[in-house]
Order: sequence, then structure tokens, then C-alpha cells
Amino acid sequence: MSESPVDLRTDVAHSARMYDYFLGGKDSYEADRVAAEQALQQFPSVRLTARTNRDFMRHATDYLVGQGIRQFLDIGTGIPTSPNLHEVAQASAPESRIVYVDNDPLVLAHARALLVSAPEGSTAYVQADAGDPASILAAPELAATLDLSKPVAVSLMALLHFVPGDVYDIVRTLMAPLAPGSYLAMSHVTTDFDDGDHDPDGMARLLQVYADRGIAVRPRTRAEVARFFDGLELVSPGVEVIHRWRNEGIDRPRSYDKQISLYGAVGRKV
Ligand SMILES: C[S@@+](CC[C@H](N)C(=O)[O-])C[C@H]1O[C@@H](n2cnc3c(N)ncnc32)[C@H](O)[C@@H]1O
Repeated sequence: MSESPVDLRTDVAHSARMYDYFLGGKDSYEADRVAAEQALQQFPSVRLTARTNRDFMRHATDYLVGQGIRQFLDIGTGIPTSPNLHEVAQASAPESRIVYVDNDPLVLAHARALLVSAPEGSTAYVQADAGDPASILAAPELAATLDLSKPVAVSLMALLHFVPGDVYDIVRTLMAPLAPGSYLAMSHVTTDFDDGDHDPDGMARLLQVYADRGIAVRPRTRAEVARFFDGLELVSPGVEVIHRWRNEGIDRPRSYDKQISLYGAVGRKV
């Protein structure tokens, strides 16, 4: 790692590496693990939240492939963890083309794992910040991989709560050049299920652990998440806790919603 050409800032916790630790990955450093263990104390179900988020990514991607989508723009990809989005899409549609984007140098360092595409399809990685959507859309790797005259699904899983600034404008900018029939899919942190300021295991306590390390996380209500889909056609059942999204066969108690505390939704550009 010491020969890495990028500065990984291993002395401070990074959201991508804490998330990797929650998922049982090996790509974290001491500062990440200390922060992640504190997070586990404050919100004991955070591992379950992370795993359920990966399940939602798979579920939403399968849904999109079922709708005929063969092109994906996945922003805030994270450190590769199997199955990655392209593996999910290409399992049933090998011709699928995926552009991955993240701003964390460790994701860049591991990007090779994202570039192992089925020969019929293609994958690319762009190191960029979601706060600058124009630079993502202008990336040569994107132009070489995606045909914007055909539908694209923009996948923003567990990303936007980390992004400062006008995130609604970011989403509008990303969706604007896309063809009708394109989709937006996202998951997003919420404190809607917390019981109040002093909730002993509420999501707000987890977010404080991040804030204490300079990682600002902005939770959003169901209505605030729904606003991202203004002008799009929300796929039924709309904004839902991720484990309930089109998962009719799986009946979890309502108490489970608080353990997950992530909303998910998919919308179609008409
Ligand atoms: C919680 S992980 C989610 C990973 C993956 N999307 C998933 O749902 O499993 C959040 C990812 O967003 C990335 N991220 C955070 N802020 C970002 C930004 N401004 N631009 C690009 N990526 C960002 C982090 O580096 C991290 O990899």
C-alpha cells in the first residue's frame, strides 16, 4: 500500500472503508475500524443495514434489467464487493454496460475488480465527485461506454446523504441528458424511525459518529427522498424502506424498519 500513487489518508476514517468493514471486507485501516466499531456500539444493526443495502442494489438492478435496461451509471460505487452491479446485470444480460464513479482513492486503487466485464458488455471506472455531475457526464470513459441516446439507469446507492450542496440539482443535472425510458434508483439514510433526540439506538447516533470524524451525513425524510423523483414516474411502491421495496413475500416486523433506516426508490423518466 505504501507504493500507492494516491494519498489514501489512512490516518482518518473514510465512509467507503467503514462500509467495507461493516460488510466484512478487508479494505480498511485502523482509523476506519475504530470508527466502525464505535458506529456499531451506537447503531448495532449497521452491519445488517449495509448487507440489506447490497440486497437492495441487487434487487433494484434485477428489476431494471427486467425492464430492458442495459446501461448503468453507478455513482458512489464503493470498494468492490461481490456481486458488484455489473455482475448482477450481466448475469442475466451479459451485454450490459456499466460506468462506475467514486471519489475515494481506495476505490480507485481497487477499480480493476470493477473492470472485469463479461466479453459481450463493458465496464469503466471514473474517479470523480458526485458534487460535480457535469464532469461525470463529460468523462471520456462515459462517452466510450454508454450510448446516451438509449436509456440509462443512474444508480445512487447510499450516496446522496454524504454529498453536500444542492443534491436535488445534482440529480436533475444527471438525469437531464438521458433518454426517455431512463431510470433513477437510489437508497438514502433516514432518521424517520428514530424515537427522538435521546433514542439509545437511533440512526441519529450513528450519524454523530461520522460527524465526529468530519464526515457529514444528511438524513432525509420520506418526503425529501420522494422529491428526488419530481418529474419522474415513481415505480410502485414508491419510496419504501429498502427491505420492503417490491419484496411482498418477505414480511418483517415494523421494528425492523428502524434497524435498517434506509429508504429506497426507483423512478422512470418519461
Ligand atoms: C456507503 S458507500 C455505498 C457503496 C455502494 N453504492 C453500495 O450501496 O453498496 C458510499 C460511497 O459513496 C462514496 N462517496 C461519498 N461521497 C461521494 C462523492 N461526493 N462523490 C463520489 N462518491 C462519493 C464513498 O466513497 C463510498 O464509496
